[in-house]
Amino acid sequence: MCGIVGYVGKLGDGERAREVVMGGLARLEYRGYDSAGIALVSDDRDRVATAKKAGKLANLSAELEANPLPEGTAAIGHTRWATHGPPTDTNAHPHLALGGRIAIIHNGIIENHAELRTELAATGINFLSDTDTEVAGHLLGSLVASGMSLPDAMRATARRLEGAFTLLAVDATDPQTVVGARRNSPLVVGLGEGENYLGSDVVAFIEHTRTALELKQDEVVTITPDEVIVTDAHSEVVEREPYHVDWDAAAAEKGGFDSFMDKEIHDQPSAVADTLRGRVDERGRLKLDEGIVDEYILKSVDKIIIIACGTAAYAGQVARYAIEHWTRVPVEVELAHEFRYRDPIVSVKTLVVAVSQSGETMDTIMAVRHAQQQGATVIGIVNAQGSTIAREADAVLYTRAGPEIAVASTKAFLAQITAGYLLGIYLAELRGNKFPDEIDALLRELDEIPAKIQRVLDTSEPIREVARSMANEQTVLFLGRHVGFPVAMEGALKLKELAYIHAEGFAAGELKHGPIALVEQDQPVFVVVPSPRGRESLHSKVLSNVQEVRARGARTLVIAEEGDAVAADHAAHVFYVPSAPVLMTPLLSVIPLQIFALELAAAKGYDVDQPRNLAKSVTVE
Ligand code: F6R
Repeated sequence: MCGIVGYVGKLGDGERAREVVMGGLARLEYRGYDSAGIALVSDDRDRVATAKKAGKLANLSAELEANPLPEGTAAIGHTRWATHGPPTDTNAHPHLALGGRIAIIHNGIIENHAELRTELAATGINFLSDTDTEVAGHLLGSLVASGMSLPDAMRATARRLEGAFTLLAVDATDPQTVVGARRNSPLVVGLGEGENYLGSDVVAFIEHTRTALELKQDEVVTITPDEVIVTDAHSEVVEREPYHVDWDAAAAEKGGFDSFMDKEIHDQPSAVADTLRGRVDERGRLKLDEGIVDEYILKSVDKIIIIACGTAAYAGQVARYAIEHWTRVPVEVELAHEFRYRDPIVSVKTLVVAVSQSGETMDTIMAVRHAQQQGATVIGIVNAQGSTIAREADAVLYTRAGPEIAVASTKAFLAQITAGYLLGIYLAELRGNKFPDEIDALLRELDEIPAKIQRVLDTSEPIREVARSMANEQTVLFLGRHVGFPVAMEGALKLKELAYIHAEGFAAGELKHGPIALVEQDQPVFVVVPSPRGRESLHSKVLSNVQEVRARGARTLVIAEEGDAVAADHAAHVFYVPSAPVLMTPLLSVIPLQIFALELAAAKGYDVDQPRNLAKSVTVE
C-alpha cells in the first residue's frame, strides 16, 4: 500500500530525477492511487520543491505540465492509499517540515502518531494535514534542527515511531542524498552507475537497474550518486550482498494488451510453467528455493496450516485438497488476520505455509511471526523475491509468476496453486506417502497444464461475449463443490473487485441450506461442474444443484470439461475447459471466471487494473 520511489543522481542531469521518480510512480501506481506527489531538491537550499495532487498519477502529471518543477539531483515520490485523512491535495505526500527544508513520504501506519502530534504541537509546530506522516516529518525536522545529520535524525525518528513504516526524506541543504528507513513495510535499493534508487518494489527502478539490495527490519539507508550505506538501528554499518532481479522491464509492461490484467491472464501458461521449472535436485528430489527446513521436522509434522488472505487464501484452499490427499496430514486453511487472534493450536510439529504474492501483506506477516513464536516451521509460497515473508519464513518456494501489476490477482493465483501442489508432492515424497512412479505421474500431470491453459485462453471469445451482454446485472452467484468451491469463491471475488457487482461464491451443496432463497427469475448462476470422469457422485450431485436453481428460474452458466454433454443440457451457456485430473482442474476452470470479470468490468468502462478502493499489497493490518 502506497508506492514509494527515491532517486539520486549526478549534478548536471537536471531532468532525470523527476523523470525517474515519475516513471517509478507510474509502475508503482498499483499500490495505491488516491493521490500522488513528488519532492525534488533543486538549487534552492532553503526549500524542497514539491507538487502533489489528489486522484490518480495523471493529475500530478498534468500539474507538472502546467507548473514544472525546477531541475534537481535528488527526488522522492509517493502514490497514496489513504489511511489517515481523506485523499485530498493537502493529505497527499510529500509532507514538509522545517519551513520546507525537509520533505518526507511514508508507507504504513504510525500507531503512536496522536501522542507525538500532541508533543510536537506543544513546541509550537503547526500541522497542515490529517496524516500520521506529517508527524514523522516534523519529528525528523526537529531533530535536524537540533544539529543531527539527516541519517542520524532518521534513525532517531524511527526509534520513536511505533507501527509500520517506510520513510524517505530529502533535505534542501543536501542536494545529493536521500535517506530511507523501514519497519514492517517494504523498501528495496536499486544500484546504478553514478545514480542509485529506492523503491517499495523493484518495479520502481527495473527499467534502470536489475541489481538490488534488500533492507531488513529497522535498517536505515543513505543513498548518494556513488554510495549506498545501510546501517542498523544502532548506527552500525551493515554489509549486504546485492542480488540480481530475475525479470526485466518488459515483464512489467502491458505487452500489447489493453490492460495489465488481460496480459497477466495471458501470462498464466508461463506463470505455471516457470513455477514448475527446475524443481528437482541432483538426487531427483523436489527442492525448495531458499532456506533449509530439516527433513526430520517435515517428516514429523502432524498438522499443516495454510495462512493467507483474499485470492491467496483461495489458492490455499485449493492446495489443501491436494496436500491432504497426497500426504494424509490434516491441513487447515486460515485467513491470516483471523489466525493469531484465535489462539490457534500450533506446536513444533506444525508446518505453517504462508501464501502471498507480494510477500508484504501485513496480516500474513504478523501471522507468520505468531506461528514462529509458537515454534512452528514456516514455509513461504511467495512471488516477490526478497520480500518480508520470503525473508522471514524458514524456507521459500517461489511462485515464478513475474511481476503482477493489475491490482486484482490472476496469474499469482495459478502459480500459488502450482507451488502448493509442488509442496504437497515434496512432502508426500519425503514422508513416503507416494512411490516414485506416483510422484512422477503427478509431476507429469502438472507439466501438461500450461498447454491446457493456453487452450482455454485461445477459446475464450464466447465467455467474453456473454460477459459483455451482462453489464447490467446486479448479482451473480457462483457455485462449486470440492476443488470447485474455492474456484467459485475466487470467481465471485474477481467480479466484486473489478465490476463492482454483488457476487457470492457458495459450496454447491450449501445452497439448499439457505442461499437458494436468493434465486429468482433470470438470476445468473455460474456453476463449476466437476469432471464426469472423477468421482461420479460429485458430477451428478453438482448437476442436481444446477437443476435446483434452474427450477427456480436461474440462468445457469456452466464451466464443464470438454465432452461433458450432460452438463450442456443443464446450462443456458456452457464454457468448456480441457479435461484434466480432478485436482488439476482449478488451474483451468478459474480462467473463464477471470475473463468474465475482466470483460464485464471493461464493458462497464471501469479501470480493470486499478479498481476503486483497492491497493495491490495490503501493508497495514
Ligand atoms: C484479490 C487480491 C487480494 C490478494 C490479497 C493477498 O484479487 O489480489 O485478495 O490476494 O490481498 O495479497 P498477497 O498475495 O500479496 O498476500
